[in-house]
Amino acid sequence: TKFWAVVPAAGVGKRMNADRPKQYLLLAGKTVLEQTLLRLLQADVFSAISVAISVEDPYWPEMGISSHDKIITAAGGKERADSVLSGLKSIRAMALDEDWVLVHDAARPCLTTADIYHLIDSLCDDDVGGILALSSHDTLKNVQGKNILGTLDRSHIWRALTPQMFRYGMLKNALEAAEGNFAITDEASALEMLGLRPKIVEGRPDNIKITRPEDLALAQFYLEQQQ
Ligand code: C5P
Repeated sequence: TKFWAVVPAAGVGKRMNADRPKQYLLLAGKTVLEQTLLRLLQADVFSAISVAISVEDPYWPEMGISSHDKIITAAGGKERADSVLSGLKSIRAMALDEDWVLVHDAARPCLTTADIYHLIDSLCDDDVGGILALSSHDTLKNVQGKNILGTLDRSHIWRALTPQMFRYGMLKNALEAAEGNFAITDEASALEMLGLRPKIVEGRPDNIKITRPEDLALAQFYLEQQQ
């Protein structure tokens, strides 16, 4: 079995309040997306990395990494799940149903090779696959309006990170079945909806998703720490 990576990078990142999508902001001398792709390339396990890019994205062709021989592009879609499905279709002629696909957010540039191997080693004998995740340190509340309806049992709550690792055929079927469903914000949820039970693999807390302006400084700190 081969390993493939799909990187959804077609979001606009409006919570950043920046002049360009967050994956093109500068982080330690490179764009966030370049840093992310370099981390995936460094792992040296992927037959190819498919990057889903928005059709009106002027930044992608300007980056040197866009011509790397392991990197191919797909047209980004309306929702994240559409972008991932498009990425899967771009490797359809090369991938087998039982091959593994690791889907990783463009906005998570601090992913370590150690975490990629940890995920692969933990799940490569699994029937379904699973995701990197973190337990929650905060107490979590179920809220309606401003009223607390209850407290979730923290011991059962995990935060979903990426990469998320699934078999090519199973992931494609699950995303196709979930098309148009806005409750799908990661790949695992599409499989869960089919009644499958993806696993969690504990990830590292430095694998943050760049979402708000202050996250860039934090990501820079983590990248320096990881050197
Ligand atoms: O918005 P959020 O941070 O959840 O996005 C996660 C990832 O999905 C980002 O890397 C973003 O670029 C990508 N995305 C996409 N296509 C969309 C929406 C988001 O590729 N339509």
